[in-house]
Amino acid sequence: MISPLGSLSSLKLKLGIVIVAAVWVTAVSTIVAVRWLDLPPIVGAAAGIVLALACVQVLARGTTKPLREMAAVATAMARGEHGREVAVTSCDEVGELAHAFNRMTAELAETDRLRRDLVANVSHELRTPIGALQAVLENVVDGVSEPDPETLRTMLAQTRRLGRLVTQLLDLSRLEAGDQPFDMRPFEIGDVLHGAAREARLHAPEDVVFSIDVEDGLRADGDPERIHQVVMNLVDNAVRYSPRPGHVALRACRQDRVVRVEVDDDGPGIPHDDLERVFERFYRGDGRRGADGGGAGLGLAIARWIVELHGGTIRAERREPHGSHMVVTLPVAPRS
Ligand SMILES: Nc1ncnc2c1ncn2[C@@H]1O[C@H](COP(=O)(O)OP(=O)(O)O)[C@@H](O)[C@H]1O
Ligand SMILES: [Mg+2]
Repeated sequence: MISPLGSLSSLKLKLGIVIVAAVWVTAVSTIVAVRWLDLPPIVGAAAGIVLALACVQVLARGTTKPLREMAAVATAMARGEHGREVAVTSCDEVGELAHAFNRMTAELAETDRLRRDLVANVSHELRTPIGALQAVLENVVDGVSEPDPETLRTMLAQTRRLGRLVTQLLDLSRLEAGDQPFDMRPFEIGDVLHGAAREARLHAPEDVVFSIDVEDGLRADGDPERIHQVVMNLVDNAVRYSPRPGHVALRACRQDRVVRVEVDDDGPGIPHDDLERVFERFYRGDGRRGADGGGAGLGLAIARWIVELHGGTIRAERREPHGSHMVVTLPVAPRS
């Protein structure tokens, strides 16, 4: 129901009008009752007050309704019910408050959805290696299989997977909470690329070759350990998706006020629709969830957090005819 004062944008003005109207109605009706209808003064005053209250009810209708609704929605949210909205019936301060309240409830509902997704994803990711470990151990305990080196290797692989996942989750939550200080300083980006390639060569198949092309003396501003972690994530992915034989190219050059780092491979590349989504937590384009089919889909999410906390950017592009092209920009070191 529309409030008669609903179009006024000031709560103070509305209250003023209601008070003046109430006083006026009380005075007029008392005078009419006493002078014209010859009623006793006490009855006249009582009639005036009743009429004034009725007048306030009509004029102030809808003014406090959003406040009552907000209280009801807040109580429902405390019980875990999300998705309810307050009807905005006025354009005064209470209406503005109702708008802000609706925005806040929408954000809280989204945060709650993300939290539920996260818990579901984490549980799923932990259940897979734990289930596999349990199955192998049960077989060994029941005497179905021997604790031979092959079985132990499978168990070790699952344990490593669990360890990696827990480390990544911890990393992500620390980054999101913002309580992991970076050791920011100017550093040679070439050292980071050479270090990452050296480390990757230890695990990469022999027929995947690495090439590095860096401008001499190019320095970026940031935490070299963290940038190493970003580059390592990109190189790991590049190696995983490279054909055999394959070529992973690491490059760094200066572009205006930023250092541009690129990691290319000639694998299948990331589909157009996934170029942004691969940076979401737990997103794995190909949906592989096997023990060796890759990680949990956290690598690029962590990389984006790190790079953005450095004031840089990270994006994925496609190479033609195939392959992926990952581009990171970082602030250039002063006097570089
Ligand atoms: N170089 C690449 N080539 C093809 N797809 C890639 C590449 N890098 C990342 N992706 C896609 O992005 C997804 C997310 O990558 P990432 O966050 O590193 O997770 P993970 O490596 O744990 O799967 C991968 O599952 C894959 O589908
Ligand atoms: Mg990865």
